[in-house]
Amino acid sequence: MRLSKSDIETIEATSLNEGLEMISKLFPGKVVFSSSLGQEDQVITDAIFKNDLPIKIFTLDTGRLFGETYELLERTTARYKKSIQVYFPEAKDVEEFVTTKGINSFYESVENRKECCHIRKVKPLNRALQGASVWITGLRAEQSGSRKEMPMIEWLEEKQLYKFNPLINWTYVEVLDYVKEFYVPYNPLHDKGFISIGCAPCTRAIEPGEDPRAGRWWWETSQKECGLHVQAPETVK
Ligand code: ADX
Ligand code: SF4
Repeated sequence: MRLSKSDIETIEATSLNEGLEMISKLFPGKVVFSSSLGQEDQVITDAIFKNDLPIKIFTLDTGRLFGETYELLERTTARYKKSIQVYFPEAKDVEEFVTTKGINSFYESVENRKECCHIRKVKPLNRALQGASVWITGLRAEQSGSRKEMPMIEWLEEKQLYKFNPLINWTYVEVLDYVKEFYVPYNPLHDKGFISIGCAPCTRAIEPGEDPRAGRWWWETSQKECGLHVQAPETVK
């Protein structure tokens, strides 16, 4: 089913809770949310779980996440008494990659890094999205140049689904305020300068004034995206 222009405008103009509720009613059983357990995603998780919305929440466990992130996953499911579906990469892909290229080969070349992200994130994401009509993310326009122009609701032709970014227009301060106001569980690394958190070997803390995504794949100078939100044609299988 495709959304009408007026449905899109209504969702775009409404609150987080109402937008999530509306989309889950329009596509019953077909709405999924990908959570990295970052602070934006914890806001959306809070809204979905508190309002008991029929939206599946899943996370991609790359096998290289921070201990703090795994601990937060546990705290989150305990707090809301609900489950978050965990997707792993294919064992044979990871085994072959680390055996032939090396366990930390992502530091050696952009090509290796993209292959690692493809195996550990992009392929499992595609599996997690199978059968879904709407994919919710925690993307915000402020986070980077490539996210500035992203709409709140977008039809993805290659995936044949809608991508819904309910926090696209939220500021960083609004996210922090929500987390504080509703006592949302969050990653303690955020308090130590880790603003955007991904895999442990590929994320560092940032200094005040640095770009929020400067700590992701910090040794690279090119585009700091892993392929979840920007297609990397050379690695797409
Ligand atoms: S990334 O492309 O650089 O890794 P980022 O960490 O900014 O993405 O997160 C943006 C959005 O991508 C999150 O709000 C979430 O929807 C999705 N995402 C990123 N990493 C994961 C993950 N490990 N599991 C599930 N969703 C993720
Ligand atoms: Fe691999 Fe780093 Fe990408 Fe994680 S962020 S999948 S460890 S290259």
